[in-house]
Amino acid sequence: MKKVLFVCLGNICRSPLAEGVLKNYLLTKGNRFVEVDSCGTSRYHTGEQPDPRTRKNAEQNGIVLSHQARQLEDKDFIEFDFLLAMDNSNLNNMRKLRSFEQNRSKVSLLRDFDPQNPGADVPDPYFGGDRGFQEVFEIVERSVISFYSEKLESIFRSY
Ligand code: 4NP
Repeated sequence: MKKVLFVCLGNICRSPLAEGVLKNYLLTKGNRFVEVDSCGTSRYHTGEQPDPRTRKNAEQNGIVLSHQARQLEDKDFIEFDFLLAMDNSNLNNMRKLRSFEQNRSKVSLLRDFDPQNPGADVPDPYFGGDRGFQEVFEIVERSVISFYSEKLESIFRSY
């Protein structure tokens, strides 16, 4: 069993979308050996479901999101095998937690796996217009699929 945690700021737009995209992809692959969750470095939206604009866009792309926002905790660095930050600001916020340094090798940017623009930030759609949500969807989807083939597919095959 491998555990993946997506991390953004509010945990209502980008990271719950990435969570939904990977869960959906695992279903299509029949891979039951991966657990997926998401969280935010802030507690601005704790307890809330994903932003209605994110949910609507995801549904237009065939994915139904359901997630209660929660804040990143120190123990997440111990419990999860992969922690994927949406942008560099999230990464800087993650550094402030006590267990970051010891678990540094588990942490990446999601877009380290983006074949089109590796190492870039996933743009924050929260303050933007509707077009931003589809752009974010496309970035997240291709990065998640490439993360899967690089880090999870081989594990699945060896079970
Ligand atoms: P997320 O987007 O980090 O992708 O969930 C945001 C959601 C809320 C806020 C910022 C970004 N906010 O400032 O409330």
